[in-house]
Amino acid sequence: MKLANDLLIRAANGQKVERTPVWLMRQAGRILPEYRKIRNALSGFKELVETPHLAAEVTIQPVDILDVDAAIIFSDILVVPEAMGLSYEMVEKKGPYFPKTIRSAEDLLNIKVPDVDEKLWYVTEAIKITKRELNGRVPLIGFAGAPWTIFAYMIEGQGSKTFSNAKAFLYRNPETSHQLLQLITDTTIAYLKAQISAGADIVQLFDSWAGILTHDQYLEFGMKYVNQICDAIKEVPLTVFAKGAFFALENMKNLKCETIGLDWNMNVSNAVNIFSNTKTLQGNLDPCVLYGDFSLIRQKTKEMLNSFANHRHIANLGHGVYPDINPDHVKCFIESVKSHN
Ligand code: CP3
Repeated sequence: MKLANDLLIRAANGQKVERTPVWLMRQAGRILPEYRKIRNALSGFKELVETPHLAAEVTIQPVDILDVDAAIIFSDILVVPEAMGLSYEMVEKKGPYFPKTIRSAEDLLNIKVPDVDEKLWYVTEAIKITKRELNGRVPLIGFAGAPWTIFAYMIEGQGSKTFSNAKAFLYRNPETSHQLLQLITDTTIAYLKAQISAGADIVQLFDSWAGILTHDQYLEFGMKYVNQICDAIKEVPLTVFAKGAFFALENMKNLKCETIGLDWNMNVSNAVNIFSNTKTLQGNLDPCVLYGDFSLIRQKTKEMLNSFANHRHIANLGHGVYPDINPDHVKCFIESVKSHN
């Protein structure tokens, strides 16, 4: 199926584009009342994730309502640890919770690389339905958590400001840590390939907790496995978003991926110097700019776009859009990108 709007794919591949493509991390769910309506009629978040025709519907909502240049499949990074043997609950107003976690080498006996077609069929099915319903309007983004970030949830069992249990585990049990990270990596490669076979046009790795590691730890326990995934995914362009890992940008130059995500703390001119058009950069407006009025949003978006001028670029926020942002302010951001020249 040929895409009517393939700006995102061309930008990722470093080809010529008429204008900078734009989408938002966490655009599906979180901000749209149309999402809440579907979600509130169900038992919870997981039912939505596991019901492919509804997951497809909320995936397409931001394309219809916000006019973004891509859809991202509605799911969560935590479906991977669940498929490997640690199920999660999504607690209303609190976030994820794992009743069982990894505490020792013995706990790894219950963790496996699953048959992804059997365990994660609902994601690939949602992708197939979404592709059919999008009918080539915009590309569909598939995704997974990066191994370190998934590992962090498997040890910690819930969100945390410091993920100190997960970091402590790396120091105390380096060998077991590497074994678990390898199992996650093998699962993630199979899972991303299944998403691509189902129709994902581009895939993104979310390394949300990269920034809490030391540089050495990130190279040893984070990048090592991101690197394996980059080497394995050859079918479509790949984006690596390692939040907080400004210290590792120089190392990321060697990853075999097309796009690097930048958070709002990262210095754009520094990143432009490091990558100098060898990769596409994605980001990086501060999500809190969207709390401002329209003229502030236009001004800050323009400054952000100018900072990437003459560099391969996909416009986005520096992290996911916050749940209490007014969708009209999101639209203002998207229109500001589209009208920029
Ligand atoms: O980008 C999208 O819109 C696609 C869907 C998507 C979700 N989660 C849906 C979701 C994506 C790409 C994610 C990724 C994700 N999930 C990450 C990495 C990105 C990041 O923000 O750093 C992480 C760390 C998670 C884990 C997770 N899932 C947390 C911590 C929470 C609770 C708080 C929150 O909303 O982020 C979730 C729940 C979740 N995942 C919701 C949605 C729409 C809210 C659930 C609800 O409807 O109540």
